[in-house]
Amino acid sequence: MNRLALLGGEKAVREPFPEWPIWDRSDRQAVVDVLESGKWWMYAYGEAELGSEADGAGPRSQVEQFEEELAAFHHVKHAIAVTNGSTALDICMRAIDLAAGDEVITTPYTFFATSQCILNADALPVYVDIDPETYNIDVTKIEEAITPRTRAIMPVHFSGELADVEAIGRIADRHGLRFIEDAAQSQGVSLRGDRFVGSFGDAAIFSFQASKCLTCGEGGAIITDSDEFAEAAWSLRHYGRVKNGLWYEHHRLAANSRMTEFQGALLRTQLRRLGEQNSRRMENVDYFYKKMEEVEGLTPVNLHPDAKTHSHYLVMLRYDASRWGGLSRDIFLEALNAEGVPAFAGYSFLNFQNPVFYRLDLTSAQSPYMAGRQKPIDYRDFLEKCPNADRACREEAVWLMHQLFLGNISHVDAIIRAIVKIKEQQAELHTSRVGQ
Ligand SMILES: Cc1ncc(COP(=O)(O)O)c(C=O)c1O
Repeated sequence: MNRLALLGGEKAVREPFPEWPIWDRSDRQAVVDVLESGKWWMYAYGEAELGSEADGAGPRSQVEQFEEELAAFHHVKHAIAVTNGSTALDICMRAIDLAAGDEVITTPYTFFATSQCILNADALPVYVDIDPETYNIDVTKIEEAITPRTRAIMPVHFSGELADVEAIGRIADRHGLRFIEDAAQSQGVSLRGDRFVGSFGDAAIFSFQASKCLTCGEGGAIITDSDEFAEAAWSLRHYGRVKNGLWYEHHRLAANSRMTEFQGALLRTQLRRLGEQNSRRMENVDYFYKKMEEVEGLTPVNLHPDAKTHSHYLVMLRYDASRWGGLSRDIFLEALNAEGVPAFAGYSFLNFQNPVFYRLDLTSAQSPYMAGRQKPIDYRDFLEKCPNADRACREEAVWLMHQLFLGNISHVDAIIRAIVKIKEQQAELHTSRVGQ
């Protein structure tokens, strides 16, 4: 038997995995065309100074065309492209008019931007644990977290897997709450093929940062079916201007969060590949999931039973050390990486365990977070309320990046070969790393 690579044997993976991002001459041409056109900005000079319609009357920009194509791809009415996903989240929090001291229910098992946008709006995240089998927000626990200060629910479609959007929609309706989808990792994800992210709540956001399934290096967008929300988001990314207003006329306290033409052009060529790339990942992940049924102690997360398209931004597995002779997840990951499969433990801790929570003034009478509140929120209490998310961070989650599943079946077989190899030699690995 070939020894484990971590113990000096040969790697299980011999063929390189696809690299990310994927690009070809069409992407190069799109960027060069913008460069040579000299129009690097989504607006046309001249119209601005003339005080004409702020949306521009010249040739349609790359950014505007991308917005139309992105909205059409997700079967929604509007898309507003911005500088990155975090800014898209900030804009959503402004668009729903959160007041200082308001609360937004979300998951602690997410990238920190999900929490940050709430705190940036002087509001407070309230965390609900994840479902242990899906790693998405546990909808059965949302209602008990609602208080008179709750204004919104913001689930994350974590790893590109739909949260239980229909249940969340019903809860939001019942309690008169806004519903924002953090779909940073979920481009092209749909329920039953006809309803896509962005259509379940008031709006959804995407990130187009370098690792994402649709990328231009850095970028983001808000998509929505609501004309009113779209109008607010458009204005908030554009210094508070309004459509049909004068150029130097500002209606909202906002910022400049516009995307450049280079980003817009590159995202247009990248978007043309997204459907095919999602399908390829779905096919490969389906095969992978079936094979993983034979490996005890490494269980893929459950996907939404009615989801039709997935982005599989991360392929997530739940590691159970008791089925690996006590071998810790972290040693397993070391061995898997040594075999040539890049894999990660993901978040080291939960959002509310970040040092920022202990630096913010959440309690004094002058704190904006205390506006209209009797009692501060003590974030230390959430650890006890979120055991599933805590376990995922500490010992359970295994993340595989989407590009590993963009190749062919032989790439997937290589991942399985590496996992099975470690399984067969778990005792030796345990002895060599931990001792008897
Ligand atoms: C769940 C989630 N929300 C928000 C963001 C923020 O996006 P960006 O990095 O484009 O600001 C990310 C990025 O990784 C994310 O994963």
